[in-house]
Amino acid sequence: MQLDDAIRGRRSVRLFRDEPVDPQVVRELIEFAVDAPSSHNAQPWHFYVATGEIRDRACEILSQTTLYYEEYLESLPDEQAETTIAFLASLGDAPVIIAVTLPSNDEPLDQINACMAVGGAIQNLQLAVYERGLGCCNITFSFWVRDELSELLGVAEDREIVSLVVLGVPAETPQDRGRDTDVVTFLD
Ligand SMILES: Cc1cc2nc3c(=O)[nH]c(=O)nc-3n(C[C@H](O)[C@H](O)[C@H](O)COP(=O)(O)O)c2cc1C
Repeated sequence: MQLDDAIRGRRSVRLFRDEPVDPQVVRELIEFAVDAPSSHNAQPWHFYVATGEIRDRACEILSQTTLYYEEYLESLPDEQAETTIAFLASLGDAPVIIAVTLPSNDEPLDQINACMAVGGAIQNLQLAVYERGLGCCNITFSFWVRDELSELLGVAEDREIVSLVVLGVPAETPQDRGRDTDVVTFLD
């Protein structure tokens, strides 16, 4: 697959088939993730991969996030609210959850550097996922239950979860949600 096609074709997948992902494939995907650039090559990421029972327990914790989304969910049309609640509760039955962590740090520039590096790593991973015919969605709604998740996954005390990538074999073909194109100011 050409890089252009991967960038243009990738979509966030929120519904998965009841099929496992080969652990070796997950390792390969993370190798792509860590090829991302980072400030001073600090490589601030560490990934925790949850499958099986731990994945199920993480999902139970995540289902609590609906409590924090009540206002947002009420604002959605019925069908969209139902789909969103179902995803929050089951993660679309994704068999793999990858928790992405970075070092806890109060310094704004360190935070910016770490977040940008991790964002690049996640995008590398997402493109490699798509190239392999798999699907994933990067989610930050884990924010609301990050402490409970960190405890479950044994995340090191000096690190925090910034997002989860839920991964599996796609059971849907999401449409392009569209992009604004008027986003650049050219100056000369
Ligand atoms: C930083 C970040 C956080 C996101 N958080 C969530 C989330 O919590 N729940 C969710 O369903 N999707 C989440 N997404 C996926 C976006 O909704 C999705 O990328 C966007 O709607 C564009 O759709 P596409 O990825 O299919 O092109 C997140 C994406 C990014 C980059």
